[in-house]
Amino acid sequence: MKVHLEGLSLSHLDADVLVLPVYAQEDPAKLLASLDKGFDKAALAAWKTAAQEEGFSGKSGQQVWLPTYGAAPFKKICLYGLGKEADVNAAVYRKLGAQVSRRLAATPTPNVAAGTGSKKKGSAEKERSVCICLRDTKKLSEERALEAALECFVLASFSFLRYKTQAQDESRRNEPMSKRWTLSFKSGLSKAKFDATVKRALTISQSTNLARELIAEPPVYMTPTRLAHEARRIAKEYGLDVKVLDAAQAEKLGMGAFLGVARGAKEEPRLIVLKYNYSRSKKTIGLIGKGITFDSGGLSLKPAQSMEHMKYDMSGAASVLATMQVVGALKPKVSVLAVVAATENMPGDNALHPGDVLKSMNGKTIEVNNTDAEGRLILADAITYAIKEGVDELIDIATLTGAVVTALGRVAAGIMGSSPQMIAALMESGKSCGEQFWQLPLFDEYKEGLRSDIADLKNAGSRGEAGSSSAGMFIKEFTENLPWVHMDVAGVSWLDRDKDELNKGGTAFGVRTMSRYILSH
Ligand code: BES
Ligand code: MN
Ligand code: ZN
Repeated sequence: MKVHLEGLSLSHLDADVLVLPVYAQEDPAKLLASLDKGFDKAALAAWKTAAQEEGFSGKSGQQVWLPTYGAAPFKKICLYGLGKEADVNAAVYRKLGAQVSRRLAATPTPNVAAGTGSKKKGSAEKERSVCICLRDTKKLSEERALEAALECFVLASFSFLRYKTQAQDESRRNEPMSKRWTLSFKSGLSKAKFDATVKRALTISQSTNLARELIAEPPVYMTPTRLAHEARRIAKEYGLDVKVLDAAQAEKLGMGAFLGVARGAKEEPRLIVLKYNYSRSKKTIGLIGKGITFDSGGLSLKPAQSMEHMKYDMSGAASVLATMQVVGALKPKVSVLAVVAATENMPGDNALHPGDVLKSMNGKTIEVNNTDAEGRLILADAITYAIKEGVDELIDIATLTGAVVTALGRVAAGIMGSSPQMIAALMESGKSCGEQFWQLPLFDEYKEGLRSDIADLKNAGSRGEAGSSSAGMFIKEFTENLPWVHMDVAGVSWLDRDKDELNKGGTAFGVRTMSRYILSH
């Protein structure tokens, strides 16, 4: 996506669309006249009347798109309601970015729409351009408005068309809109500030879209081996250290819990490690991702309905890899180690039996009473690995429990852990970018439900009783008293219908929050 700081004055703007944010009860004609003296008076009056006739009042989220019929160099003007100036926050600009993006994506490409049928080969299509005006308010700087609008513009433009053989729309080819549109912002920001903010917003949103692609891929393709391949590509492109362990190497390290889960699958497991080193770092942040590339439940098989979307059980892994891409591109002042445990959970010949006892890498033994509680098993060994590599704090992200979907729906992720400071910082990072969390408790009593008669622990507590906290408690057993936060993203990682800037499908929840958290160091 090409993004630049608009150099032309508004009345000379040679774009397809100008997006003008307008406060509640503000006169758009007066606003334009105050921004630029060069506008044609009759055109301003005509736009004002047209807006009034459409009932435009500038309330939050309201849009009116008007053709300019040659009265200005831009072809259309979009008046976008921001609501009351005192209430303007980043969420308003997030919505603006997403709504404008969706609207443009649905705009047919002209020379195809003109009825010429398929496009003539070689006739390069003109890129179309949109300019969004930014407005500084006391509560929200132009920098934050830019970041919010751009991030959500890119997120809302996501499409996954690899497996579509027919064009989605007769008037439009299956081409991502980022290739069809260029974006500019009219802003008072300095070039340096503008460029830095654009780089950050583009990196985070495009990395999130990368994770969404990994999640969207069918599980037969997005295997542990494939995830490792993606990690290597990211490492190469951004100069990160990468290490990929196969089953034999994991065996040598004693990763019995991780390998136990992998036993039922034909696909080989991979433990994927990425490292970003900042030479003067005061600490190393550990990111741990659950990478179950398909969760059938194993012998504790899921019913068909619950299995349908279980390709997204590697969402935590995808978000960790995408976050490492952000880290590699933006080079924060803190070291980060990412560990992704990747395997399928399948009921093959050699699969775990309910009743089996596994020995984890840190020495604890685990009785497997439910093979569908596999996420915590692979996270246990991944966490031990990260601790042995010397991380100072741990963040794990996993589509871990159905219970968190029951508790919080698709609205917020569950967050819990041993460090109130980290929980607060991550929740704050999430708030600033529209990712919501709700804290769940880790009372010591939850440990009692994980007591085994024959091993140190069992992997699943009683069904229907505080399932998310119980899973959190299990993981806590492997964190060796390091500051640790667990994010259960089972609910928020998948949408059955479009929601704000996210289309239905995988959301890659957590990339924005973790990236902001790391960049705030
Ligand atoms: N991957 C699932 C959790 C999940 C459920 C993710 C729904 C997304 C949507 C996880 O591995 C799982 O199966 N958890 C079990 C644990 C139980 C057996 C203790 C669950 O939540 O039912
Ligand atoms: Mn499971
Ligand atoms: Zn799972």
